[in-house]
Amino acid sequence: MWRLSVSILIFLYLTASSSSFGDSEATCSGIVPLRYRYDKISITDFGGVGDGRTVNTKAFRAAIYRIEHLRRRGGTLLYIPPGVYLTESFNLTSHMTLYLARGAVIRAVQDTWNWPLIDPLPSYGRGRELPGGRYMSFIHGDGLHDVVITGQNGTIDGQGEVWWNLWRSRTLKFTRPNLVEFKNSKEIIISNVIFQNSPFWNIHPVYCSDVVIHHVTILAPQDSPNTDGIDPDSSYNVCIEDSYISTGDDLVAIKSGWDEYGIAFGRPSSNITIRRITGSSPFAGIAIGSETSGGVKNIVIEHITLSNMGVGVNIKTNIGRGGYIKNIKISDVYVDTAKYGIKIAGDTGDHPDAYYNPNALPIVKGIHIKNVWGINVRNAGSIQGLKGSPFTGICLSEINLHGSMNTYRTWKCSDVVGTSLKVSPWPCSELRTFGGSNSCSSTF
Ligand SMILES: *[C@@H]1O[C@H](CO)[C@@H](O)[C@H](O)[C@H]1NC(C)=O
Ligand SMILES: *[C@@H]1O[C@H](CO)[C@@H](O)[C@H](O)[C@H]1NC(C)=O
Ligand SMILES: *[C@@H]1O[C@H](CO)[C@@H](O)[C@H](O)[C@H]1NC(C)=O
Repeated sequence: MWRLSVSILIFLYLTASSSSFGDSEATCSGIVPLRYRYDKISITDFGGVGDGRTVNTKAFRAAIYRIEHLRRRGGTLLYIPPGVYLTESFNLTSHMTLYLARGAVIRAVQDTWNWPLIDPLPSYGRGRELPGGRYMSFIHGDGLHDVVITGQNGTIDGQGEVWWNLWRSRTLKFTRPNLVEFKNSKEIIISNVIFQNSPFWNIHPVYCSDVVIHHVTILAPQDSPNTDGIDPDSSYNVCIEDSYISTGDDLVAIKSGWDEYGIAFGRPSSNITIRRITGSSPFAGIAIGSETSGGVKNIVIEHITLSNMGVGVNIKTNIGRGGYIKNIKISDVYVDTAKYGIKIAGDTGDHPDAYYNPNALPIVKGIHIKNVWGINVRNAGSIQGLKGSPFTGICLSEINLHGSMNTYRTWKCSDVVGTSLKVSPWPCSELRTFGGSNSCSSTF
């Protein structure tokens, strides 16, 4: 039975890698090599029981210990067969593939009392929600390279409800755990997995590079607090594509640290591609910020299909953030039903503490948004820069945001300099200077 599944896996691997050849559509498959793992083990070899009741922490830790210490050439695949494997949080190791078969579920225990605590991220200075440390992510990777989480659309289930209720009743002690976090890691692939009910953010690559996340499904209720889909944070060479995300917060949010801590740490997010994402959320489809103190630059976002949104595209920062948001190209966005089509704001989010520098103003410069089509959008757009640091080079072209009757509001702008071409409804006067010194670069 096990041998049979292994040959099926081999077959799936080969077909999956060959099908990307000859595909004219831009894709990030192949950017991080998908290594074939000759060495394969199953969680059941380590006493794993998929009955939904047995706690499998020892099995996961033993299997990963074995991978880490035996160090088989080419790495090792850890196979999770169909079944529900309840476990506490665990750490991954380098050169491994966590493979979830169809029908396999790795489910977090709901033990919030014994959940391990780890240090805050230096670029945040404290936990994102509360001072002090933060609960470790359910599946965690620190200082790793060459790690794959994949399979046949098995599920990683955070059972976040207990955590959401602690947040709702204001009885949380520390910042809630992410579902999956990679820190200081590189060559990471996440594909063909369903993530559901994360306690907090779903997938958080922080201080990482060469990360590919594609063909994933991320689900959490619309009213679940802070269940962001994917948050690349102070990371570079990240590609996120072909995924469905429907959660209670931003679907994808690019970040780079918080106020004075993020400024001091100084690690930007750059060279990030996000394409062919579909989903819905009461917050933003595609967000940049609001924590951008290390800077965010060279971002390409394209072919985004959204429905029932708070905001389609949301770029957000604040005074005290410092940093920059520059060279951002967003194109081909379709929004069906939203409060705002496009929102760029300099007054979003809270501060870590009272020590932020109110003179640390962010720079927002070179934001090109092209081909956006929206129906049933209540407010076309709002672009509110900062008095001491106006947003410049904001370029809108071929944008049609249609409202429903009676509730429709047009553009609102302040402290912004930019251009527009074929924007309907007619944009605010600040953006009516096409052909001027701030015109969009011709390469876009
Ligand atoms: C998992 O990794 C974290 C952070 O690197 C570390 O503090 C913790 O001790 C590790 N836990 C185990 C069980 O190895
Ligand atoms: C898993 O789901 C994704 C997203 O719906 C889909 O693109 C992919 O083909 C599925 N993969 C498998 C192996 O079923
Ligand atoms: C940008 O990232 C992509 C992978 O997403 C990589 O192929 C490319 O080489 C990177 N470009 C630079 C300038 O690092």
